[in-house]
Amino acid sequence: MKAILFAAAALMMTACCQTQTPKEEPLASTPVVYGEVIELPAPDLTRGVNISEALQNRRSWREYSAEKLSMEELSGVLWAAAGINRPENDHLTAPSALALYPLTVYAFFEEGIYRYEAKGHRLVRVKEGNFMAKAGMQDFVETAALNLVYVADMNTYEGRKMPVEKVKYLCGQDAAGYAENVNLYTAGTGLKSITRGGAAADVLQVIGLEGENYFFALAQSVGK
Ligand SMILES: Cc1cc2nc3c(=O)[nH]c(=O)nc-3n(C[C@H](O)[C@H](O)[C@H](O)COP(=O)(O)O)c2cc1C
Repeated sequence: MKAILFAAAALMMTACCQTQTPKEEPLASTPVVYGEVIELPAPDLTRGVNISEALQNRRSWREYSAEKLSMEELSGVLWAAAGINRPENDHLTAPSALALYPLTVYAFFEEGIYRYEAKGHRLVRVKEGNFMAKAGMQDFVETAALNLVYVADMNTYEGRKMPVEKVKYLCGQDAAGYAENVNLYTAGTGLKSITRGGAAADVLQVIGLEGENYFFALAQSVGK
Protein backbone atom coordinates (compact mmCIF):
# COMPACT_ATOMS: atom_id res chain seq x y z
CA MET A 1 0.00 0.00 0.00
CA LYS A 2 2.85 2.31 1.01
CA ALA A 3 4.58 1.63 -2.31
CA ILE A 4 1.42 2.50 -4.25
CA LEU A 5 1.04 5.76 -2.31
CA PHE A 6 4.69 6.70 -3.01
CA ALA A 7 4.28 5.92 -6.70
CA ALA A 8 1.10 8.02 -6.88
CA ALA A 9 2.84 10.93 -5.09
CA ALA A 10 5.82 10.71 -7.43
CA LEU A 11 3.51 10.71 -10.47
CA MET A 12 1.62 13.74 -9.14
CA MET A 13 4.88 15.62 -8.50
CA THR A 14 6.14 14.89 -12.01
CA ALA A 15 2.87 16.09 -13.55
CA CYS A 16 2.83 19.16 -11.31
CA CYS A 17 6.45 20.10 -12.13
CA GLN A 18 5.89 19.54 -15.83
CA THR A 19 2.97 21.93 -15.94
CA GLN A 20 4.77 24.52 -13.78
CA THR A 21 8.04 24.58 -15.74
CA PRO A 22 8.11 28.03 -17.35
CA LYS A 23 8.67 28.14 -21.08
CA GLU A 24 12.07 29.60 -22.04
CA GLU A 25 11.41 33.05 -23.47
CA PRO A 26 13.63 33.73 -26.49
CA LEU A 27 16.02 36.62 -25.79
CA ALA A 28 14.84 39.87 -27.33
CA SER A 29 16.99 41.01 -30.24
CA THR A 30 15.91 44.48 -31.31
CA PRO A 31 17.87 46.07 -34.17
CA VAL A 32 19.57 49.38 -33.35
CA VAL A 33 18.28 52.50 -35.13
CA TYR A 34 21.22 54.90 -35.35
CA GLY A 35 19.40 58.20 -34.86
CA GLU A 36 20.59 61.30 -33.01
CA VAL A 37 19.95 59.54 -29.72
CA ILE A 38 19.87 55.82 -29.00
CA GLU A 39 17.72 55.29 -25.91
CA LEU A 40 18.99 52.00 -24.54
CA PRO A 41 16.62 49.54 -22.87
CA ALA A 42 17.27 48.79 -19.20
CA PRO A 43 19.98 46.15 -18.84
CA ASP A 44 18.68 42.61 -18.43
CA LEU A 45 20.14 41.59 -15.07
CA THR A 46 19.25 37.93 -15.66
CA ARG A 47 21.34 37.62 -18.82
CA GLY A 48 24.53 35.59 -18.98
CA VAL A 49 26.32 32.67 -17.39
CA ASN A 50 27.63 32.81 -13.83
CA ILE A 51 30.68 34.94 -13.05
CA SER A 52 33.04 31.96 -12.70
CA GLU A 53 32.11 30.70 -16.16
CA ALA A 54 32.54 34.20 -17.56
CA LEU A 55 36.04 34.32 -16.07
CA GLN A 56 36.78 30.91 -17.60
CA ASN A 57 35.58 32.16 -21.03
CA ARG A 58 37.40 35.51 -20.95
CA ARG A 59 39.98 35.98 -23.69
CA SER A 60 40.98 38.59 -26.26
CA TRP A 61 39.27 38.25 -29.66
CA ARG A 62 40.80 39.53 -32.90
CA GLU A 63 38.28 38.05 -35.38
CA TYR A 64 34.75 39.38 -35.70
CA SER A 65 31.76 38.59 -37.92
CA ALA A 66 29.79 41.30 -39.70
CA GLU A 67 26.85 40.75 -37.35
CA LYS A 68 25.70 43.87 -35.47
CA LEU A 69 24.83 44.07 -31.79
CA SER A 70 21.16 44.23 -30.84
CA MET A 71 19.76 46.99 -28.63
CA GLU A 72 19.74 44.55 -25.73
CA GLU A 73 23.39 43.60 -26.26
CA LEU A 74 24.44 47.21 -26.70
CA SER A 75 22.63 48.10 -23.50
CA GLY A 76 24.42 45.35 -21.60
CA VAL A 77 27.85 46.32 -22.97
CA LEU A 78 27.50 50.03 -22.13
CA TRP A 79 26.01 49.31 -18.74
CA ALA A 80 28.89 46.94 -17.99
CA ALA A 81 31.40 49.61 -19.02
CA ALA A 82 30.00 52.61 -17.21
CA GLY A 83 26.36 52.15 -16.26
CA ILE A 84 24.88 53.47 -13.04
CA ASN A 85 24.26 50.60 -10.63
CA ARG A 86 23.55 52.76 -7.54
CA PRO A 87 21.18 55.60 -8.46
CA GLU A 88 21.35 56.95 -4.88
CA ASN A 89 24.88 58.27 -5.58
CA ASP A 90 25.23 57.76 -9.35
CA HIS A 91 28.15 55.41 -8.86
CA LEU A 92 28.94 53.05 -11.71
CA THR A 93 29.43 49.34 -12.36
CA ALA A 94 33.18 50.12 -12.60
CA PRO A 95 35.24 51.73 -9.84
CA SER A 96 36.93 55.12 -10.22
CA ALA A 97 39.84 56.58 -8.25
CA LEU A 98 38.51 59.14 -5.74
CA ALA A 99 35.07 58.57 -7.34
CA LEU A 100 35.95 61.35 -9.78
CA TYR A 101 34.83 59.56 -12.97
CA PRO A 102 37.07 61.42 -15.42
CA LEU A 103 36.21 59.04 -18.30
CA THR A 104 33.72 59.38 -21.09
CA VAL A 105 32.93 56.35 -23.22
CA TYR A 106 32.68 56.96 -26.96
CA ALA A 107 31.02 54.28 -29.08
CA PHE A 108 32.21 54.01 -32.68
CA PHE A 109 29.86 52.29 -35.12
CA GLU A 110 29.90 52.18 -38.93
CA GLU A 111 27.06 54.68 -38.68
CA GLY A 112 28.74 57.22 -36.43
CA ILE A 113 30.37 58.15 -33.14
CA TYR A 114 28.21 58.34 -30.00
CA ARG A 115 28.85 59.52 -26.44
CA TYR A 116 27.48 57.31 -23.67
CA GLU A 117 25.44 59.10 -21.01
CA ALA A 118 25.12 56.93 -17.94
CA LYS A 119 22.35 59.15 -16.59
CA GLY A 120 19.52 58.19 -18.88
CA HIS A 121 21.44 55.14 -20.18
CA ARG A 122 21.59 56.51 -23.72
CA LEU A 123 23.98 57.14 -26.57
CA VAL A 124 24.09 60.65 -28.03
CA ARG A 125 25.45 61.12 -31.53
CA VAL A 126 28.61 63.20 -31.79
CA LYS A 127 29.30 62.67 -35.48
CA GLU A 128 27.75 60.77 -38.39
CA GLY A 129 29.89 58.50 -40.60
CA ASN A 130 32.29 55.61 -40.35
CA PHE A 131 35.36 56.50 -38.27
CA MET A 132 36.03 52.97 -37.02
CA ALA A 133 39.58 53.04 -38.45
CA LYS A 134 40.38 55.88 -36.03
CA ALA A 135 39.49 53.72 -33.04
CA GLY A 136 42.47 51.39 -33.47
CA MET A 137 45.59 50.52 -35.40
CA GLN A 138 44.78 46.90 -36.34
CA ASP A 139 42.72 45.63 -39.30
CA PHE A 140 40.18 43.72 -37.20
CA VAL A 141 39.09 46.95 -35.48
CA GLU A 142 37.08 47.98 -38.55
CA THR A 143 35.33 44.60 -38.72
CA ALA A 144 33.99 44.64 -35.13
CA ALA A 145 30.41 45.84 -34.69
CA LEU A 146 31.45 48.33 -32.02
CA ASN A 147 34.61 50.04 -30.84
CA LEU A 148 34.74 51.79 -27.50
CA VAL A 149 37.17 54.65 -26.90
CA TYR A 150 37.73 55.72 -23.31
CA VAL A 151 38.69 59.39 -23.03
CA ALA A 152 39.71 61.08 -19.79
CA ASP A 153 39.05 64.72 -19.01
CA MET A 154 41.95 65.59 -16.70
CA ASN A 155 40.15 68.76 -15.59
CA THR A 156 38.23 66.43 -13.32
CA TYR A 157 41.38 66.39 -11.15
CA GLU A 158 41.63 70.19 -10.96
CA GLY A 159 42.63 71.38 -7.49
CA ARG A 160 43.91 67.95 -6.44
CA LYS A 161 47.57 69.04 -6.64
CA MET A 162 48.60 65.81 -8.36
CA PRO A 163 51.37 65.46 -10.97
CA VAL A 164 49.97 64.99 -14.46
CA GLU A 165 51.67 61.58 -14.77
CA LYS A 166 49.82 60.38 -11.67
CA VAL A 167 46.53 61.72 -13.07
CA LYS A 168 47.14 59.88 -16.35
CA TYR A 169 48.03 56.72 -14.45
CA LEU A 170 44.80 56.84 -12.44
CA CYS A 171 42.69 57.58 -15.52
CA GLY A 172 44.28 54.58 -17.23
CA GLN A 173 43.49 52.43 -14.21
CA ASP A 174 39.86 53.58 -14.33
CA ALA A 175 39.70 52.71 -18.02
CA ALA A 176 41.10 49.22 -17.38
CA GLY A 177 38.24 48.63 -14.93
CA TYR A 178 35.61 49.78 -17.42
CA ALA A 179 37.14 47.61 -20.13
CA GLU A 180 37.41 44.53 -17.96
CA ASN A 181 33.76 44.86 -16.96
CA VAL A 182 32.96 44.73 -20.68
CA ASN A 183 35.29 41.76 -21.23
CA LEU A 184 33.51 39.83 -18.50
CA TYR A 185 30.07 40.84 -19.81
CA THR A 186 30.94 39.67 -23.33
CA ALA A 187 32.54 36.47 -22.02
CA GLY A 188 29.36 35.77 -20.10
CA THR A 189 26.89 36.51 -22.86
CA GLY A 190 28.40 34.90 -25.96
CA LEU A 191 29.89 38.10 -27.36
CA LYS A 192 33.53 38.87 -28.13
CA SER A 193 35.82 41.72 -27.11
CA ILE A 194 39.39 42.86 -26.70
CA THR A 195 41.03 45.63 -24.70
CA ARG A 196 43.37 47.72 -26.85
CA GLY A 197 45.97 50.33 -25.99
CA GLY A 198 46.10 51.98 -29.42
CA ALA A 199 44.04 54.35 -31.53
CA ALA A 200 44.80 56.80 -34.33
CA ALA A 201 46.89 59.78 -33.24
CA ASP A 202 44.04 62.14 -34.15
CA VAL A 203 41.23 60.15 -32.52
CA LEU A 204 40.43 62.98 -30.08
CA GLN A 205 40.15 65.55 -32.88
CA VAL A 206 37.92 63.12 -34.82
CA ILE A 207 35.63 62.93 -31.78
CA GLY A 208 35.70 66.72 -31.63
CA LEU A 209 37.69 67.07 -28.41
CA GLU A 210 40.24 69.88 -28.39
CA GLY A 211 42.57 70.85 -25.56
CA GLU A 212 45.38 69.37 -23.53
CA ASN A 213 43.09 68.29 -20.75
CA TYR A 214 41.75 65.40 -22.85
CA PHE A 215 43.67 62.16 -22.80
CA PHE A 216 43.09 58.93 -24.74
CA ALA A 217 43.05 56.29 -22.02
CA LEU A 218 42.12 52.99 -23.71
CA ALA A 219 40.10 51.39 -26.50
CA GLN A 220 38.16 48.19 -26.96
CA SER A 221 36.55 46.26 -29.80
CA VAL A 222 33.28 44.43 -29.22
CA GLY A 223 31.31 42.20 -31.54
CA LYS A 224 30.28 38.69 -32.52
C1 LIG B 1 46.03 47.59 -21.42
C2 LIG B 1 45.97 46.59 -22.53
C3 LIG B 1 46.24 46.98 -23.81
C4 LIG B 1 46.18 46.06 -24.87
N1 LIG B 1 46.39 46.46 -26.15
C5 LIG B 1 46.24 45.62 -27.17
C6 LIG B 1 46.34 46.09 -28.52
O1 LIG B 1 46.53 47.26 -28.78
N2 LIG B 1 46.17 45.18 -29.50
C7 LIG B 1 45.93 43.84 -29.25
O2 LIG B 1 45.79 43.07 -30.20
N3 LIG B 1 45.80 43.38 -27.98
C8 LIG B 1 45.94 44.23 -26.95
N4 LIG B 1 45.77 43.79 -25.65
C9 LIG B 1 45.40 42.40 -25.42
C10 LIG B 1 46.60 41.57 -24.97
O3 LIG B 1 47.47 41.37 -26.05
C11 LIG B 1 46.06 40.22 -24.44
O4 LIG B 1 45.31 40.47 -23.27
C12 LIG B 1 47.18 39.25 -24.15
O5 LIG B 1 47.78 38.82 -25.35
C13 LIG B 1 46.71 38.02 -23.40
O6 LIG B 1 45.72 37.35 -24.15
P1 LIG B 1 44.25 37.11 -23.55
O7 LIG B 1 43.63 38.44 -23.27
O8 LIG B 1 43.51 36.37 -24.65
O9 LIG B 1 44.38 36.32 -22.31
C14 LIG B 1 45.85 44.70 -24.62
C15 LIG B 1 45.58 44.32 -23.28
C16 LIG B 1 45.63 45.23 -22.27
C17 LIG B 1 45.31 44.79 -20.86
